[in-house]
Amino acid sequence: MPEPTPQLIDRFGRHINYVRLSVTDRCDLRCVYCMAEDMTFLPRAQVLTLEEIARLGRCLSELGVTKLRVTGGEPLVRRNVLWLFEQLGALPGIRDLTLTTNGTQLPKYAQALKAAGVTRINISLDSLRPDRFRAITRKGELKQVQAGIDAALAAGFARVKLNSVILRHRNDDEVCDLVRFALARGMDLSFIEEMPLGQIGDHDRAEAYYSSDEIRRDLSQHFELIPTTETTGGPSRYWRVAGHETKIGFISPHSHNFCADCNRVRVTAEGRLLLCLGQEHSADLRRALRANPSDDERVKQAIRDAMAIKPRGHDFDLTEQPIIFRHMNATGG
Ligand code: GTP
Ligand code: 5AD
Ligand code: SF4
Repeated sequence: MPEPTPQLIDRFGRHINYVRLSVTDRCDLRCVYCMAEDMTFLPRAQVLTLEEIARLGRCLSELGVTKLRVTGGEPLVRRNVLWLFEQLGALPGIRDLTLTTNGTQLPKYAQALKAAGVTRINISLDSLRPDRFRAITRKGELKQVQAGIDAALAAGFARVKLNSVILRHRNDDEVCDLVRFALARGMDLSFIEEMPLGQIGDHDRAEAYYSSDEIRRDLSQHFELIPTTETTGGPSRYWRVAGHETKIGFISPHSHNFCADCNRVRVTAEGRLLLCLGQEHSADLRRALRANPSDDERVKQAIRDAMAIKPRGHDFDLTEQPIIFRHMNATGG
């Protein structure tokens, strides 16, 4: 297939070919770094319909976007979401159709997602201890997610990656166990530094900060890590464990800023095109979609125009109150 002509280029010369689509802000879990315990979710009328999201996917692919990642909240709790995957999977320009999920619904959906054309799945898993898993997710059953991971592996996706947000004194002592778990299953694993999005109430984010360097130090006591230049087009920097296929990624917004290479934007469940995860610059695509029901060109122009306001990067500061009031479930990361 020839390289599509990139049409989405921002002021800093960055080519945008990766879009993350949040299809719901709802979730069956309440991870402590993502949400407050008591959350109010969007009224349904404010959320894009699946047809509107599919239409956006088509517009984006025509603008040179080659990678779509479906996120939430938890995308698989949205009713009829499989239909959306089928539509996105049939778009000719999309080479990588990916999903970020908490895994609870995968026993039900994994095979159908594969059949719809999903290439890769990222599953959140922060602890292998049932009591801790429950404490971190506030209501999750570890067994259910492990069954989801098994289902994803059995369905035969090209890669299944685990995501672990590491918090000091909560799960920092599990990094080696998580690596062993990934190695035993031939899965990739990314460790993520917590980002200050929204008031979460439970812990002090500066105290809970556990850097990627500390994790690598801990891992190096037990594993030989070899740096690689591999990329999935996402923010992870990858290492390999000697003798294994598994890649260990580090998503380090605090200790290793990756904004200069940013190739992505995101669409919230309400249809706001967010130009940066850590800033509020956005364009109202819901309005563009609803005002122009049969004119894709207008929608595409709104997306092109928004490139002019993509900021240089985030200004995360763990020692201050969050400047971004939106929680992570509004964008799926
Ligand atoms: P692949 O590289 O395609 O596997 O995806 P990914 O690791 O980028 O996606 P995933 O949805 O698994 O996200 C993992 C973490 O990366 C989440 O915590 C996201 O919030 C974070 N992340 C993804 N993109 C960005 C970004 O542009 N900026 C920041 N600060 N974090 C990001
Ligand atoms: N900081 C970093 N990662 C987060 N995630 C959710 N909230 C945060 C946060 N505040 C992660 C989830 C999931 C991915 C989409 O983002 O664990 O793996
Ligand atoms: Fe749900 Fe994912 Fe947020 Fe956890 S991180 S509460 S699984 S949306």
